[in-house]
Amino acid sequence: MSLRLGDIAPNFKATTSLGEIDFYEYLGDSWGILFSHPADYTPVCTTELGRTAALKEEFAQRNVKVLALSVDPVDKHLSWINDINETQHVIVDFPIIADDDRKVSTLYDFIHPNASATATVRSLVIIAPDKTVKLIITYPASTGRNFVEVLRVVDSLQLTAQYSVATPANWKEGENVIVALNVSTEDAIKKFPKGVEIVKPYLRYTPQPNLD
Ligand code: BEZ
Repeated sequence: MSLRLGDIAPNFKATTSLGEIDFYEYLGDSWGILFSHPADYTPVCTTELGRTAALKEEFAQRNVKVLALSVDPVDKHLSWINDINETQHVIVDFPIIADDDRKVSTLYDFIHPNASATATVRSLVIIAPDKTVKLIITYPASTGRNFVEVLRVVDSLQLTAQYSVATPANWKEGENVIVALNVSTEDAIKKFPKGVEIVKPYLRYTPQPNLD
């Protein structure tokens, strides 16, 4: 069965480049990002893992733990990580699952047989601290994901988890947000003391509530 938004992300145990892990224990109370790669020693994957390592502080500030996956064995991961560190000028210190039995890939629907019978596609799942699935994206092997966009989604998810707001198209940190539909305008004016701009009864903006 495929995973959908709102589902509980299934737990698993796996061998990784940093040893054996239990997914839920690894996540603890953090947000989580689990993302799959077609194969080790491939160029786009090398840049993606490099970008992820380079954004270590950004993920840490947002209380996000990252966990990568490819279907190659752990010894191959370990030697590939040396290449990633060398070519991308980073230190990959997050775990990469060695999913050579495709157990986690199957659990998370990372193999799309009509794209490749054996390799995983580029899927990425964001998981909230309560283990619900908040985002699933899937890219083809030939397109590297945009990790600035991934951080933007984390920012949006964390904001909407805390306040009755949504974020508009192309929203970026610091820009106005949208009052959630289930909040009446009367309540919105009380909830958002920085002001509510009413464009239509269903389209109401307010300054980002978690900023001074
Ligand atoms: C890559 O990471 O460059 C890649 C992997 C599999 C197929 C195509 C590209």
